[in-house]
Amino acid sequence: MDSATTALSEMEGEIGRRAGPQPSMPVMFDGMALPPFPPLINNAKKRFEDIRSLDCRQDDVLLVAYPKSGTHWIWEIVCMILKQKAEYSKEPKEFLFLEAMPDLDVVRNLPSPRPMNTHLPYRWLPTQHIENGGKIVHVLRNPKDVCVSIFHHAKVAPTVHGDVGDFQTFFKTRFMNPKVKLMGGWFKYEKEFEEAEKKDKRGAIFTVHYENLKKNPIHEARRLADFLNIDLRHEDIVEIVDKCSFQKLKQADETVKDQSVFKESGLPTTLINNLYRKGEIGDWKNHFTVAMNEQFDAVFKEEMIDSDIDIQFE
Ligand code: A3P
Repeated sequence: MDSATTALSEMEGEIGRRAGPQPSMPVMFDGMALPPFPPLINNAKKRFEDIRSLDCRQDDVLLVAYPKSGTHWIWEIVCMILKQKAEYSKEPKEFLFLEAMPDLDVVRNLPSPRPMNTHLPYRWLPTQHIENGGKIVHVLRNPKDVCVSIFHHAKVAPTVHGDVGDFQTFFKTRFMNPKVKLMGGWFKYEKEFEEAEKKDKRGAIFTVHYENLKKNPIHEARRLADFLNIDLRHEDIVEIVDKCSFQKLKQADETVKDQSVFKESGLPTTLINNLYRKGEIGDWKNHFTVAMNEQFDAVFKEEMIDSDIDIQFE
């Protein structure tokens, strides 16, 4: 075992406290490399357990996605649907981002319905929410575009992510490296969700595919409103979809959102400013070499052999 592998193995079993961020080494917990959010850096075990034991209400809505799957986009759509108005909220998604918000107590004092959001895998979601049959909106995006999006996200913040190198290096040493897979890796995360959805007899889980929303936004937003039991006119849906289009949302992020929430999150501004990057399907084609694509397809085929998830790469 080389020294880097040894160091990573030692970190794998680590639960909890670390003195502070160490640029090239992510915090590990329960086999997952975690994003560099201050509450996770300070005490990952505590924040995970606090989320799992959160007091939930019957009408809470939980938005759950693997990082860089389009969470901000769908968060805005969900919020507008719940408000029954195509109006941007002042609060950004980070305001109710369970593992990143500085104080989880904020959730307790909020009026219903509370649109919370998280990247935690299914097994770590609030137990009470699952027992209640509370609504879960799960966002799913093809893993090649997810990989590219994470790369660009990490690249702009070397102080927290370390030097990720060029895309090929990132792909090999981070995205495909079993020792440091973000949230335990896309495959495990999505297969766990698929299993939960198959067992979900109450229809509590609704999966939105990023690609479907992009290709057919009005249809998908209507399905989402139906799932949330909100009766909206066609004109309202059209307006919501328009206000949540990539360019308009990017602009609203800069002009409408309460910037203090971002500051309190403790994340570098370079990360915050890069949330709306390109917003397209298939940018992976501009990044993957033929060899990388073949390697990924082989892993995908093996990992997803028993899966029925329909992934759209273009
Ligand atoms: P890209 O990096 O490929 O552009 P998350 O919100 O989960 O962090 O996901 C971020 C990804 O969603 C980014 O992908 C971002 O550009 C994309 N995104 C954000 N808003 C979007 C929108 N309105 N339409 C399409 N994609 C959007």
